[in-house]
Amino acid sequence: MKPVYFIGSGPGDPELLTLRGARLLQSCATVYAFPPFGESFGALLAGKNLYDPFDFDFEALLERLQRQRQRQPVAFLVPGDQTWFFPFQGLIEALGDDAQVIPGVSSANAASAILKRTLNLSGVCSRSLILSPRNLEETSGAPALESLAAPGVTLVIYMNHLPLADLVARLRKGYGRDEPIALLQQIGLPGQRVVRGTLDTIEALWRTPGACSGSKTGRSDLILILVGEFLTAAVDNSWWDLRRDREGFEAG
Ligand SMILES: C[S@@+](CC[C@H](N)C(=O)[O-])C[C@H]1O[C@@H](n2cnc3c(N)ncnc32)[C@H](O)[C@@H]1O
Repeated sequence: MKPVYFIGSGPGDPELLTLRGARLLQSCATVYAFPPFGESFGALLAGKNLYDPFDFDFEALLERLQRQRQRQPVAFLVPGDQTWFFPFQGLIEALGDDAQVIPGVSSANAASAILKRTLNLSGVCSRSLILSPRNLEETSGAPALESLAAPGVTLVIYMNHLPLADLVARLRKGYGRDEPIALLQQIGLPGQRVVRGTLDTIEALWRTPGACSGSKTGRSDLILILVGEFLTAAVDNSWWDLRRDREGFEAG
């Protein structure tokens, strides 16, 4: 039996696929992927048998995989990568040693690069929290969004299902003040849109009534939301010279 590769495929731009991911994808004639990858990875998928994994029940999908990998390896294109909000954990458990996971660029990594801001800006942000409001609501005993949003916290919000006005109101309650926020839609894809503002201004800047929440199909719109002072705070460069002093570099 051949392996099944779970290839971290990034936010959608094929240029963000790793060299390893590209090499393994090339070796597979059968690929499971869902939007937007069928389209944005079109050139890399030409001539391959392409399936949407969510067209099959879990057991039916496993049976298909066992048949398909008798002769050749099979690839799954993983949105971002496995690290956060990964839909295929059950398949990995079922396949055991025959599953191989290839790391990739998550949409949070790509967002940080687009914004040109590190999420844990020294002296400003002491912790970054990755969360989904829907996931918080669906998990019994999980804290409320308001209690996680606080000064010094960077929030990376995946799969938002809340209307923007509600999200902003809850964040304002948590932070207890206005706070910088950025909305990144369709990262690395046609129609990429980046809107930066603050909790007070973002609704007017976003100008897309009702959007910025998950779609009714259960597949969320591709929007990543980042909140926190890291977005705009001035950078304190004094640590640079302090570090050189500590390590005994000579000036000049
Ligand atoms: C099931 S999660 C997958 C996350 C993926 N593992 C990652 O780390 O990027 C899907 C969510 O990731 C975010 N996302 C994934 N691709 C995106 C993109 N191209 N642009 C903006 N957000 C994206 C959205 O919040 C979307 O609702």
